[in-house]
Amino acid sequence: MKPKYKGKHFVTLEDWDRQGIDDLLEVSKQLKKKFRNNETTDYLKNKTSFLMFFEQSTRTRNSMEAGIAQLGGHGNFLDTSTMQISHGETGKDTAIILSSYGHAIACRNCFWKSGNAFIREMERHASVPVMNLQCDLYHPFQGLADLMTIQEVKGRTSNIKVSIIWAYATSHKKPISVPLTQSLLFPRYGMDVVLAHPKGWELPEWVIDKARKNAEANGGSFKVTNNMEEAYQDADIIIPKNWGSWASNESDDVIDEALEANRHWKCTEAMMKRAKPDCNYMHALPADRGNEVEDSVIDGPQSVVYQEAENRLHTAKAVMTMTMGDK
Ligand code: CP
Repeated sequence: MKPKYKGKHFVTLEDWDRQGIDDLLEVSKQLKKKFRNNETTDYLKNKTSFLMFFEQSTRTRNSMEAGIAQLGGHGNFLDTSTMQISHGETGKDTAIILSSYGHAIACRNCFWKSGNAFIREMERHASVPVMNLQCDLYHPFQGLADLMTIQEVKGRTSNIKVSIIWAYATSHKKPISVPLTQSLLFPRYGMDVVLAHPKGWELPEWVIDKARKNAEANGGSFKVTNNMEEAYQDADIIIPKNWGSWASNESDDVIDEALEANRHWKCTEAMMKRAKPDCNYMHALPADRGNEVEDSVIDGPQSVVYQEAENRLHTAKAVMTMTMGDK
């Protein structure tokens, strides 16, 4: 009998139902335990996953590459600037060819208004599972690891206030895919989600509509505010992170007057005092230390950023095992 999820694509968690996500979390938990116990987990012996990157990465690349090695397979890293894609070869042709050489195609392409379209084009033409390593809209591997981390640190997902808060940063104009994924996913698990940002950093309207529907259907809530203090107040989890103003301003420029006017959107010890005493600080990383967050918060006792980053390995292995494997 064909395993339940074999061949299923992993482009957005919106394409996975609650049972599927719960199964991914359960397998992640088992793989984490086995990793700690140094148990062999060669469920993907002789399987190859192609790992295509249009952009830089530390966590995503290494969790996938180490992950597939630990599953007995091979991850083939592809810097797309060295592929014929850079001369215009299409996603369709790339997907068909790579499908004939291996067992999965994973890709990071965050270009605004074309990243997701490129990955969806590969999904349409691949005969192996296509995995989204982050695009302009979604970061499903990050969302899954975040959900696992929240379950671990809080022991529940309902009756908790989780605040996704925009933060000031100057490193680069970041995609909206992390807050977008969290906004859609967390209400499905009954969380009370607050999305806070200055005016100009809105997520697309369809995301807000869908997040509200996800909350209504699952007993959670979803609120948008321009008030940072309100987001911190009595929060159980806070996720202050920068994202770009792509939905209202498509310029690649990182620093402008609007950004500088919002330097005070920073996670400080003083802001953390508004949250519950056992509130946890999360961040997908890399963090823009000193701008997004004070060192004393990210390095402090409420921070779970390294646990969150470690969970990228276990969740990556779960996705690969379930979509590529025979078990
Ligand atoms: N959080 C995350 O995706 O990290 P990388 O950009 O390092 O992969």
